[in-house]
Amino acid sequence: MAAANPTALALCLLLAAASSFSSAAAAYANYTVGGNSGWLFNETSNATSANYSTWAASQTFNLGDYLLFNTNTNQTVIQTYNLTTYQACSIDDASDNDFFQYNGGSNQFGEALTVAVPLTREGSNYFFSGADDGVQCQNGMRFEIDVQHGSGLPPSLNQPPPPPYAVPPGPGAANSPPVAVVNSPENSGSGGGAGVRGAAWGGVCLLLATLFF
Ligand SMILES: *[C@@H]1O[C@H](CO)[C@@H](O)[C@H](O)[C@H]1NC(C)=O
Ligand SMILES: *[C@@H]1O[C@H](CO)[C@@H](O)[C@H](O)[C@H]1NC(C)=O
Ligand SMILES: *[C@@H]1O[C@H](CO)[C@@H](O)[C@H](O)[C@H]1NC(C)=O
Ligand SMILES: *[C@@H]1O[C@H](CO)[C@@H](O)[C@H](O)[C@H]1NC(C)=O
Ligand SMILES: *[C@@H]1O[C@H](CO)[C@@H](O)[C@H](O)[C@H]1NC(C)=O
Ligand SMILES: *[C@@H]1O[C@H](CO)[C@@H](O)[C@H](O)[C@H]1NC(C)=O
Repeated sequence: MAAANPTALALCLLLAAASSFSSAAAAYANYTVGGNSGWLFNETSNATSANYSTWAASQTFNLGDYLLFNTNTNQTVIQTYNLTTYQACSIDDASDNDFFQYNGGSNQFGEALTVAVPLTREGSNYFFSGADDGVQCQNGMRFEIDVQHGSGLPPSLNQPPPPPYAVPPGPGAANSPPVAVVNSPENSGSGGGAGVRGAAWGGVCLLLATLFF
């Protein structure tokens, strides 16, 4: 029995190291749409400043990454998961919860701004400019990306809504429903969970060491 202890301890430390390492590997990236060309449309030539489909096809996107649109208020950024809305180049027929529109809240033309859009949903994400009644979009101000799971959503983008207020149960509340368990960092798929796992393995190793040495 005693002979197996160093092996167990070594294995334990190895597991601790491996599981801590995965937290260091969890990195999120920011992508500037169109690179240095930005997200711009020339209304005189009807030309986009970059080919956004080509740009998008050359990248890999993961949950928790951001798209940064360097643009001005002559364009908008509309994000949707609905292919119909995307193909229509318009939000006119879309329901209110089917898209997000980012325009910086300004009503002035040509005001520079950067729009940061976090990627919070896996699968197809569609982006287009809704300005000029769809003309910009029809002329190439649009692209589609496929968001991969990657390291999962970081806790900063994965806050569950606070539970609704409930009156604390009184003495007679024997039949009240059980308290709901809110997502733990472990099953939310966040990178932060790995550090916790590493620390947990470290604890197990310490326990083994004190038991056998
Ligand atoms: C990515 O962009 C977001 C939103 O602007 C910002 O909070 C974050 O710090 C940026 N991350 C990096 C690595 O630049
Ligand atoms: C730009 O597109 C609009 C709408 O499709 C069209 O009316 C206009 O003539 C186009 N301009 C140029 C320069 O192609
Ligand atoms: C827009 O296109 C017109 C016609 O090709 C060109 O003269 C003008 O310089 C362009 N504007 C910008 C900001 O690139
Ligand atoms: C997408 O939007 C259209 C209306 O533009 C709606 O009819 C359709 O049900 C939506 N699809 C999904 C999957 O929500
Ligand atoms: C923005 O749009 C307005 C109105 O069409 C135009 O006069 C202006 O030149 C545009 N500015 C830029 C930076 O594209
Ligand atoms: C972007 O490039 C692709 C592939 O070369 C081409 O099919 C597409 O028409 C281009 N889009 C625009 C808006 O120029």
